[in-house]
Amino acid sequence: MDLAELARHTGAEVNKYYVGLGQTAQTVPAPDEDIVTMAAAAARQIVARHGADGIRTILFATESGIDQSKSAAVYVQDLIGLSAATRAVELKQACYGGTAALQLAAGIVARDPQQRVLVIAADIAKYDLDSAGEATQGGAAVAMLVAANPALAVLDEPSGLYTANVQDFWRPNYRSTPMVDGKLSIGAYLEAVEQAWKDYEGRGGRGFAEFAGFCYHQPFTKMAYKAHTRLLELKGVEPTAARLYADLSRTAVYNRMIGNSYTASLYVALLSLLDHAEDLTGRPVAMFSYGSGAVAELFSLTPVPGYRDQLRTAGNRAAIAGREPISYENYRAVRDFALPDDGAELTVPAVTASPYRLTAVSGHSRIYGADR
Ligand code: HMG
Repeated sequence: MDLAELARHTGAEVNKYYVGLGQTAQTVPAPDEDIVTMAAAAARQIVARHGADGIRTILFATESGIDQSKSAAVYVQDLIGLSAATRAVELKQACYGGTAALQLAAGIVARDPQQRVLVIAADIAKYDLDSAGEATQGGAAVAMLVAANPALAVLDEPSGLYTANVQDFWRPNYRSTPMVDGKLSIGAYLEAVEQAWKDYEGRGGRGFAEFAGFCYHQPFTKMAYKAHTRLLELKGVEPTAARLYADLSRTAVYNRMIGNSYTASLYVALLSLLDHAEDLTGRPVAMFSYGSGAVAELFSLTPVPGYRDQLRTAGNRAAIAGREPISYENYRAVRDFALPDDGAELTVPAVTASPYRLTAVSGHSRIYGADR
């Protein structure tokens, strides 16, 4: 949905969204899509290219869980046909979960370099209707393969860490949308940038000038600009518009059109950078991960020789461009569609063009279908 459609409903000037938040559109998943279908569609591309040998673990990071007990990773293992000799689990810490999964995967691979770990970050960001957060909704899934000899980038040491118990954004079990204090969350995020950076420096991290790119968690793309301004000021660099544009614009191309994708957002920013930058071989990229509540991590990735052959730029662009534009009224119809919460049976209408879809709810279970 183009945010001009939302502006038509809220009466806001569209530039509040386009310029003030740095968002032009948001992804609205179809009724027959959820984190499992999106994750399986992302992960199957990796398995198709790199095979499934050695994948004995799936770590699924999300804060849009479909079950309080069973991991979404189990459904993905089944849908994409991975071996039964697989450990499949779900991780949660707001938008930070994907980074937690990446680091845990690196630990598994360090212990046994024969193994490869499938890391998935998938979320659907949904706020209360007519709330300020509604302009920052979205959804996406990113799948990553963590291996001893990575084809894309090396995960560097060290990391800078920061955790603070703050009620900026959380979702009690009885709610389908989060509680959020928007202004507090922005302040908590900025504080986390500074503290994680300081911890990173204290642990002997790279010098600021070494980075060829800066990827931030992007609840809305303007947040990356606020965060980078904070970091530049901390380093005594003047945050001119030209400097901010040069450092960030390529990381925001996709998020600007997708909206917040929580755990996936930082990795969508990385994809955007890799798809739009000059050759970054051997040039480290700073990554800042933030999950409300709050946990943050500052680390870096260094693209390896040949990484550009691995990019799926045309496919990524086609996936974004291929979304069907919807009006505000159609968006409301999608929002009004709800899966039963009383055990009723439901056949879900077929809408998505994705290779996987949620076909029904039956016997209190989600039933998925695949075109394979
Ligand atoms: P709001 O209060 O409606 O917006 O909601 P605002 O009045 O602050 O305006 C936003 C910006 O637009 C401002 O710019 C305005 O000046 C500007 P800023 O001063 O911030 O630079 N503006 C305009 N610009 C150009 N032309 C105009 C115009 N009008 C206004 N005509 C808010 C904004 C982000 C608070 C809301 O959308 C929200 O609550 N979002 C959800 C929370 C969120 O995204 N927080 C971000 C940090 S926390 C985080 O990243 C974690 C998270 O991803 C969750 C997780 O970890 O799981 C959210």
